Amino acid sequence: MSRGISFPGESTPAICAPTPLDVSLSGAEPSPKGQHTVFDKLLDRHTGETPWQKIPWHDPDFSRRMLREHLSQAHDAASRRAEKIERHLDWIHRVVLKGRPARVLDLGCGPGFYTGGLTLLGHRCMGIDFSPASIAYAQEHKAGTFQLGDLLTVDYGNDYDLAMLIYGELNAFAPEDAKYIIGKAYAALKPGGTLLLEVHTPEAVEREGTQPPTWYTVRDGLFSDAPYLCLEESSFKDGRAVTDYYVIDTATGALTQYTTMLQAYTDAQYRALLADFADYETVISLDGESEDPYLFVITARKP
Ligand SMILES: C[S@@+](CC[C@H](N)C(=O)[O-])C[C@H]1O[C@@H](n2cnc3c(N)ncnc32)[C@H](O)[C@@H]1O
Repeated sequence: MSRGISFPGESTPAICAPTPLDVSLSGAEPSPKGQHTVFDKLLDRHTGETPWQKIPWHDPDFSRRMLREHLSQAHDAASRRAEKIERHLDWIHRVVLKGRPARVLDLGCGPGFYTGGLTLLGHRCMGIDFSPASIAYAQEHKAGTFQLGDLLTVDYGNDYDLAMLIYGELNAFAPEDAKYIIGKAYAALKPGGTLLLEVHTPEAVEREGTQPPTWYTVRDGLFSDAPYLCLEESSFKDGRAVTDYYVIDTATGALTQYTTMLQAYTDAQYRALLADFADYETVISLDGESEDPYLFVITARKP
């Protein structure tokens, strides 16, 4: 991935002369009157406030490509690598569930790494996600019960000992939706049941929103099966990080925009979100000991 542009040899004019590229970009043709090229669209892009947006996890093609990222053992981008997840499962089983068989609700379960792992440790688990490819993968490869559904509308069931929403996904919901999901999780827990959230620190959200603009090219990536150029631009305002991805198909010049948002919460705001719960506690990370630069864990109990 290239970051920024530098001008080597600014003090040595001999190598400074511009070199015209012998290529034609379909998006770069002079625009016939009244017709927008990809560059006009980029110049006219909207950078003000917009309604809350998420990447299209639930789109069948996007979810198929995202599943590749979940399963990759080369990075931790969509789900953590297996070895890290094993440590998390051990901590949840031993410390949160005290090694006793429990009913577990895994909200935004992805391909079921946690639902499946906790099921193998003797718990009765339900994983819910609206990514069709992830749920199909989980149903085929993982132990436990899985349901395809939107956390905002699907019925969670009830009588759970533990409800969890991990890997920072709570911050990716509009604040009113996050509050609504917490309320649904509360209703799904039995009295004495535990809510486990893995959330972003406010500093991590600010860092996300203040990244310098960047770009990269791929022949086949998360946003398309065809080669594309992705221009990435972030902003941070009022505790909200917004990242726009401008994806340009290199064959046709067609531009597609994707946006993700993250909401920062202070400690007081997290506590207010969980006001109906008792025993609010924070833990350094999902394995209980190693520091994570972006995320931490909150547990709270339904009275
Ligand atoms: C960062 S991934 C984490 C997946 C999984 N918890 C893990 O750690 O392996 C977030 C997950 O939340 C799911 N998700 C996001 N918004 C959702 C919604 N409104 N309803 C259901 N699932 C959602 C996505 O499809 C994705 O699988």
